[in-house]
Amino acid sequence: MSNYHIKHLEEYYQVYRKSVRNPENFWDEIAEEHFVWRKKWDRVLDWDFSKPEIKWFQGAKLNITENCIDRHLHIRGDKTAILFEPNNPDEPARHITYLELKERVCKMANVLKDKGINKGDRVVIYLPMIPELAVALLACARIGAVHSVVFAGFSSTAVATRVNDCGAKMVITSDGSYRGKKTIDLKGIVDDAMDACPDVKNVLVVKRTNADIFMKEGRDEWLAPLMLAAKEDCLPEIMDAEDPLFILYTSGSTGKPKGMVHTTAGYMVYTAYTFKNVFQYRENDIYWCTADIGWITGHSYIVYGPLANGATTVMFEGVPSYPDFGRFWDVVQKHKVTQFYTAPTAIRALAKEHLDFVNSHDLSSLKVLGTVGEPINEEAWHWYNDHVGDKKCPIVDTWWQTETGGILISPIPFSTPTKPTYATLPLPGIQPALMDEHGTEITGNQVDGRLCIKFPWPSMARTIWGDHQRYKETYFTAFKDKYFTGDGALRDEVGYYRITGRVDDVIIVSGHNLGTAPIEDAINEHPAVAESAIVGFPHDIKGNALYGYVMLKETGESRDRDNLKKEINQMITEHIGPIAKLEKIQFVSALPKTRSGKIMRRILRKIASKDTSNLGDTSTLLNPEVVSEIIKEVL
Ligand code: WT7
Repeated sequence: MSNYHIKHLEEYYQVYRKSVRNPENFWDEIAEEHFVWRKKWDRVLDWDFSKPEIKWFQGAKLNITENCIDRHLHIRGDKTAILFEPNNPDEPARHITYLELKERVCKMANVLKDKGINKGDRVVIYLPMIPELAVALLACARIGAVHSVVFAGFSSTAVATRVNDCGAKMVITSDGSYRGKKTIDLKGIVDDAMDACPDVKNVLVVKRTNADIFMKEGRDEWLAPLMLAAKEDCLPEIMDAEDPLFILYTSGSTGKPKGMVHTTAGYMVYTAYTFKNVFQYRENDIYWCTADIGWITGHSYIVYGPLANGATTVMFEGVPSYPDFGRFWDVVQKHKVTQFYTAPTAIRALAKEHLDFVNSHDLSSLKVLGTVGEPINEEAWHWYNDHVGDKKCPIVDTWWQTETGGILISPIPFSTPTKPTYATLPLPGIQPALMDEHGTEITGNQVDGRLCIKFPWPSMARTIWGDHQRYKETYFTAFKDKYFTGDGALRDEVGYYRITGRVDDVIIVSGHNLGTAPIEDAINEHPAVAESAIVGFPHDIKGNALYGYVMLKETGESRDRDNLKKEINQMITEHIGPIAKLEKIQFVSALPKTRSGKIMRRILRKIASKDTSNLGDTSTLLNPEVVSEIIKEVL
């Protein structure tokens, strides 16, 4: 079926044209041929970006776990579904077959039901990259509960905010987690969070590190004995196409994190379709995405997309630098990985190390390489291409977002000629538009503008949990009848897209999406701090790093600056997590502001990047003198 495995560029263009001429027919065919439905849809699509309201496959009934597990059993029961590679290379890898996965998912689903979790209830999952994490997602989906995974690097405050925002009654966590040489006390973090979460009735705990932890009577229970006692069959809850499947939080440029709501049928169809095409997945391939399931990449391209295709998906618990910088390549060699999908920041970090770490491994199993999360610079692209792919593996630079659910712009391997730093062409069904600042679409090639999408695709988020108005304002207000991505992009002479970066106050650090406002809020809680502004600046490995301008209160002026810096980063670690720590902190006497009181971030960004030649007109500022003062201190 040509829709499903595009094999050359001409075929891509044919499929693309078909998908745009009649999107409903296009998705109808794919949904019809490749999934199991309890009932087919009445309508493929209903949409209105002005409300906004998007509904795919209305009237259809299904359960995504039937598509990801049950339907494979008669042909792939003994095939490895999840290949777990532990943090410690001396601990044996674990192969979980589709049959075993079914049993585990059903057992956990029964445990959740026993604890009173019903269809529509929210369950927060705060687990390291161990098989139980994938099982927990699927167990929720089995019974129609809505999972919300919180990345296990987030702080207790971040956990509490998310638990309370989505109104979860249950949290699933572990005694601890392994990351390289470190062991992290996850349960302790959950305990702290629970002080602020009165509505959580149950905390289920997976044993991983055997740490001696506190178990609260009546609330906390070990998962293993409950699983042992549970029945290994659990009928799937029959869901409507538009029933929520999960909530995943992402940072916004202002305010609290946004709980992006993804629904069932469209998400399934789109992630499965794109997984197969973007990675050119074939039966018996061993696919490895190094992301954490705490991010959308892991949801769509470790769990749902691969499993819907009956693939073997590797889950890696560790880090690229442990026990040494050859770990990724060690795992590729050991499991004969065929598709390898990682982040530019990891590539840059590994490219800094000795080439022997790569060259001492047999990477000949690799067929396709991928990157995601941030723009990849040319140098890193070539290093990846030359040393990892041996110039034989196409690199798919995949552009997408938590909100988009799946990859929107990417080369299709062996069809789309790649070009370093370019995500290249929109996938079938995706209609990008570049917009100018007046809200007019810029047509033609060799142009740049703000990246929008003109037409719905099946896996787009449907709303922000509990705040539809914010969903509308954030994504559908800047440009009429278009989804605004928040990114800038250019289109070259052949129509290839290159994503140039965020045009809002979101900063991508090591591929993590960080809003400036929550970080500033955290810093401002420090008793010595009056006000602060965070901007990004280019960083060799992280892509961007954070630069904080901090204005102290009079009472803080006498404090030791080095201690203050430590305390400020400590505040950030507590409120958000270590990923949001500031690379540089500059104490300033004031922040440059407009007359209406808005912080001039554009100027602060330029100063942080040491690009002070052309700051533009600063005379209209409320306090132009602070600009020269800040510059003087930096140079
Ligand atoms: C933002 C979304 C998609 C899963 C991981 C990140 C940036 C993502 C690329 C890419 C350039 C990229 C964008 C986007 N981004 N992929 N291939 N090239 N930029 O998901 O945390 O929701 O972040 O990541 O700025 O808007 P996210």
